[in-house]
Amino acid sequence: MRYLLGNWKMNMSLSQIDKFTNGIEQLKPNIFVGVAVPSIYYAYCYKLKQKMSVGLQNVSEYVSGAYTGEISAGMLEDVQADFCLVGHSERRQYFGETDARVNSKLKMLLSKNILPVLCVGETLEQYEANETRKVLNEQLTQGLAGITATDDFVIAYEPVWAIGTGKTATEAEIDSTCGYIKEIVKQILGKENIAVLYGGSVKSTNSAGIVNLPNVDGALVGGASQNADEFIKILNIFK
Ligand code: 13P
Repeated sequence: MRYLLGNWKMNMSLSQIDKFTNGIEQLKPNIFVGVAVPSIYYAYCYKLKQKMSVGLQNVSEYVSGAYTGEISAGMLEDVQADFCLVGHSERRQYFGETDARVNSKLKMLLSKNILPVLCVGETLEQYEANETRKVLNEQLTQGLAGITATDDFVIAYEPVWAIGTGKTATEAEIDSTCGYIKEIVKQILGKENIAVLYGGSVKSTNSAGIVNLPNVDGALVGGASQNADEFIKILNIFK
C-alpha cells in the first residue's frame, strides 16, 4: 500500500474545510489518501470522509477518566477515525512527548484498531553531528517496544529541520534513510517491508523525486495539504 497523508496541524477553519472538500474530485485507486485534522473539526469533516480517509493528529496515552483536554483511542474508535499520527516532532518538541509516551500512545491506538502513523526524525543539530541513524534507532527501539510483527502501523520519517522550512533532504538521503528504517523495523520486530513515508516541505514541485523512490511508500504533507489542488497535484505524481 502507498500513502498520501496530509497534516493540517493547527490550521484551517470551517470555510476552508468546505473549500478543500469541494476541491477534491477523483482520487487514485490503491493509494491510501487522508488528512489528519484538528480534532474539533473531525465531525465536520463527514463530507470529506466520503472522499478520503480522515484521521487525527494526537491521542491520549490514557484509557479514560480525569484527563482534562485529552482525547482517547476509544473515542477515536467511536467516531471511526481512519488513522492517527503519533510522536510528531512538534509534539515531541513543544509538548514534551518522550519515546515512552509515544510508545504508550501507539499501543492505545493498536488496541482500538486505529492505524497509527509513527513519526520519527532527527533535529538539525543531530543531522549535522551525523547522528541521524543513531537517533532513529533510539526512537524506533523505544517507540516500538512491546509491538509485534503482526501489528499494523506506518512510519513517517520527517527530519525536523525539513519541516516547514522549505528545505528537504536530498533524494539519496531520503531513500537511504527510509531504507535504514525498514531494516531497523525488521531487526526489532521481524516485520518485513514496513511502509515508510517521507515528510518535510513536500509540495507538488519537489514530490516527483521523493514519492517514487524505491524505499519511500508515500508522503506526509503539512503546509501543502491545506489546498485541495496542490494536494491532488502531489497525488497525481504518484506512479
Ligand atoms: P511541512 O510539509 O509543512 O514541512 O510539514 C511537514 C509535517 O510536519 C507533516 O507532518
